[in-house]
Amino acid sequence: MNGIVNTVAVMSGITGFLAFILTLARRTVGDYGMVEITINDKKKLEVRGGDSLLSALSSEKIFIPSACGGKGTCGYCKVKVLQGGGAVLPMEEGLVPADEIDEGVRLACQVKLKEPIKIEIPDELFNVREYSAVVRKIEDITPKIKHLVLDIVEGGEIDFKPGQYVQLVAPPYAESDESVQRAYSIASCPDDKGFIELIIGYVEGGICTTYVHKYLKEGDHVNFNGPFGNFFYKDNDREMIMVAAGTGMAPILSILRTMKSSGIKRRCSFFFGAKTRDDLFFLDKMQNLEESLFDFEFVPALSRIGPEDDWEGVRGRVTEPLMKHMDNVENKEAYLCGSPVMIDAIVKLLIEKGMDEKLIYYDKF
Ligand SMILES: Cc1cc2nc3c(=O)[nH]c(=O)nc-3n(C[C@H](O)[C@H](O)[C@H](O)COP(=O)(O)OP(=O)(O)OC[C@H]3O[C@@H](n4cnc5c(N)ncnc54)[C@H](O)[C@@H]3O)c2cc1C
Ligand code: FES
Repeated sequence: MNGIVNTVAVMSGITGFLAFILTLARRTVGDYGMVEITINDKKKLEVRGGDSLLSALSSEKIFIPSACGGKGTCGYCKVKVLQGGGAVLPMEEGLVPADEIDEGVRLACQVKLKEPIKIEIPDELFNVREYSAVVRKIEDITPKIKHLVLDIVEGGEIDFKPGQYVQLVAPPYAESDESVQRAYSIASCPDDKGFIELIIGYVEGGICTTYVHKYLKEGDHVNFNGPFGNFFYKDNDREMIMVAAGTGMAPILSILRTMKSSGIKRRCSFFFGAKTRDDLFFLDKMQNLEESLFDFEFVPALSRIGPEDDWEGVRGRVTEPLMKHMDNVENKEAYLCGSPVMIDAIVKLLIEKGMDEKLIYYDKF
């Protein structure tokens, strides 16, 4: 009998000890308590430890650009960490150049908050706001591209520079159980502060674009935050060379609309690449801009058009008319928007032509 009592007592002791160790481990390993974030040496926040720096800042309404929604693939969520933040992860080394890492630049989505941290962010990010909007219009402009007009109903008027983008929130829906944010360039003119226009392409299996293309309808509410981005109109008297493909037209259209509304008088050519006639859109808007802007020409080029097809414009890649136009690079600057492959190829060609890299502005997507 005594043997049984002793065994039970020993077992209970072991169980109690293990429970104590488990609780201690939870407290010391998983629970970091409250952590202080100091921003630009002036603003202090107390947040729950354990979250990523990106989501902690976003829950405090400080929005860092995060085009991939925190997956560690876009490299947009850079912040300068002056103190704390832990070791740089291999994933960050692939997206942040070595000289920036040496200066303390980190990806906010990869920094886990375990200790007090001091960071530096551009002051303009304090002006980024959250907006609620109602879909006034959503329509197909090609078989794979939709044009959206979103009327802002909460968050106030939006102030942005032509060329900048917002981050649209796709809530959980039938084909996705997570809420994601994705970057979309504003196509409307900054004079229109009560609504924004977006041009959104469909990506097979993409979370946000499936939501927009298959589920979002007129009258629905959507949220977005912004504005973000360093790709925007630069005010000077250089001739402007613009190149885009597909939805890359969005920020260029915003710039052209701004030039029209502000009466800007600069020579400007827009080379637009598409595969077939079905992939062309907003030709009426481009014609209107050609008639109303000071000195503007729109040059669409179709790369997959057969000799039998009726098409009077350029046949082939957009680089062909572009290079013909670029007999010299004197007093010219370039605005490019399209896939990374297309942008890299055009940047290379322009540099070979002698254009200063600093005068080539682009957004890759
Ligand atoms: C600054 C900026 C501005 C942008 N502006 C626009 C815009 O105006 N209009 C617009 O339509 N998009 C724009 N994008 C792209 C947009 O943010 C999304 O990446 C895109 O819509 C895909 O989102 P998703 O959630 O549907 O796909 P995800 O769920 O993120 O991706 C699903 C899969 O598709 C792949 N994928 C993602 N994008 C593409 C693509 N383009 N082609 C092929 N495969 C892809 C991913 O690698 C992944 O494997 C912009 C991106 C940036 C960084
Ligand atoms: S949000 Fe895209 S890398 Fe961090």
